[in-house]
Amino acid sequence: MDDPRFHYVLGIESSCDEMAAAVIRDGREIVASVVHSQVEVHRPYGGVVPELASRDHVRAVARVSEQALADSGLEASQLDGIAVTAGPGLVGSLLVGLSFGKAVAFQLGIPVVGVHHLVGHLMSAELSRPDLAPPYVGLVVSGGHTALYRIGRDGSTDVLGETRDDAVGEAFDKVAVLLGLGFPGGPAVSRAAESGDATAVDFPRPMLKRPGLDFSYSGLKTAVAIEVERRGGLAALSGSQVADVAASFEAAATDVLVLRARKALRQEKLAAVAVVGGVAANRRLREEMARVGQRDGFEVVFPPLDLCTDNAAMIAAAGARLLERGQRDGLDLNAFSRAPISSVASGAG
Ligand code: KG4
Ligand code: ZN
Repeated sequence: MDDPRFHYVLGIESSCDEMAAAVIRDGREIVASVVHSQVEVHRPYGGVVPELASRDHVRAVARVSEQALADSGLEASQLDGIAVTAGPGLVGSLLVGLSFGKAVAFQLGIPVVGVHHLVGHLMSAELSRPDLAPPYVGLVVSGGHTALYRIGRDGSTDVLGETRDDAVGEAFDKVAVLLGLGFPGGPAVSRAAESGDATAVDFPRPMLKRPGLDFSYSGLKTAVAIEVERRGGLAALSGSQVADVAASFEAAATDVLVLRARKALRQEKLAAVAVVGGVAANRRLREEMARVGQRDGFEVVFPPLDLCTDNAAMIAAAGARLLERGQRDGLDLNAFSRAPISSVASGAG
């Protein structure tokens, strides 16, 4: 650590439908991590309802933060700083964690720093693999984002490519609806795909024939909708047909990620890729990326599953790094719904 004053940082994350709090020691070691999921709140609606998300966050924020502190065995007075997700995400959700974090920092008289959610996701790689040193390629695959970054030695995060329309997690969620698999969609599609034949439908691998490193997932989602219609609609599909379509979609969606990551590594002459975000929990993606990495000689880093989906440990770790570098935010720190990483001070690297 550059600055040994930040032994214990409390992180708070509430950008979407998880309220999470965690305590990190010396920027690297997770001493407590609590995640309160709202899956049951949103399940009846088949997707996240922003108003319900913020209300549940209001109910959970103090309890989840107190739980993280209790699990850490620390007194609040031992905390050295607060890191809180400021965006991107649902503003109503973000504001709950942000206001709470600022209030706690004010009360304890310690600094608070806002963290970009994707910088947090990128940090989950180094958090789970402390020996991972930049430069490397970072692939963020979440519900809202699909992007490749060059993580530089100096902590820079240069965008190499990103989605032009839907994020890959969003495609998983929409395909889950098309196949009647329920909410949350990503894990449901993945589970259904396990018993399916991934070669049953030859779905397009979008953008692969194009130059550059961008992604596009809206065409693939439409191709799944057309395939369901071609087979007579969802009601006409047997369980094994649903499994085949799910497996074929999953193969197309994840193949693109593997091939784009490989292309980025070659272009940047780098030898390691870290795959982070909720979709990094996908089993097929983890297996395929590892297989191709072994075959083609690059290192593949996946955080453990609980650090792939939204959590506060990654926010605390990213925030600790910002605090060490002297970054501070005032109590006027506001939430933002969108902003590229580069426009916000970056804790990655
Ligand atoms: O990072 P995350 O928890 O929240 C955002 O920042 O968006 O990512 C959530 C996304 C959702 O779209 C969810 O369906 C997807 O990650 N996801 C998965 C899996 N687990 C979560 N997608 C595919 N396979 C999974 N096992
Ligand atoms: Zn996320």
